[in-house]
Amino acid sequence: MNNDIERVLYSKEELNRRMDELAKQLTAEYKDQRPLIISVMTGAVLFTVDMIKRMDIMAKLDFIDVSSYYGGTSSTGKVKLVQDLKSDVRDRSILIMEDIVDTGHTLKYLIDLLKERGAKSVKVCTLLDKPEGRQVEVKADYVGFNVPNEFLVGYGLDYQGYYRNLPYVGILKPAVYEKD
Ligand code: PRP
Repeated sequence: MNNDIERVLYSKEELNRRMDELAKQLTAEYKDQRPLIISVMTGAVLFTVDMIKRMDIMAKLDFIDVSSYYGGTSSTGKVKLVQDLKSDVRDRSILIMEDIVDTGHTLKYLIDLLKERGAKSVKVCTLLDKPEGRQVEVKADYVGFNVPNEFLVGYGLDYQGYYRNLPYVGILKPAVYEKD
């Protein structure tokens, strides 16, 4: 699996360091709010798990699965709800955990959905932000790293479902996806 990686962008140590900082900020913001933390499956699960262990706050955890229809390599912007939350979000402080914000379609869909359902506040923490990819205007409140427009895998991010279990974020060798 490691042989398919062109370059490591963020090592395990760099990810850990940045998560320590982000968790400190989030702990300060949410210490009295008992937020509902929503992890967006599947990519954000690794990041979510590592972050919540660093946050000394009372919080609940839930999961949502949404998927975009991709034609070729770009998003069509249509987002579908695959698996809904178990929780009622009405009057709750919500913290969405994402692995990456790219076109922004997924995040916009989620924020609109949660606000429509009566959430008190909706904020977003993403490990990676790819501003060059943006097609709709949406902003994360907490960002681990701004990333270049490359095909990234690892630490939750996949190519055809694989590479999520790499402990770092890396750039996939073009030869891997060009042959498919
Ligand atoms: C990825 C990622 C985000 C979304 C970001 O999920 O986890 O949720 O895409 O892209 P966008 O800003 O262009 O909408 P994906 O739909 O690939 O599902 P996965 O997490 O199961 O890999």
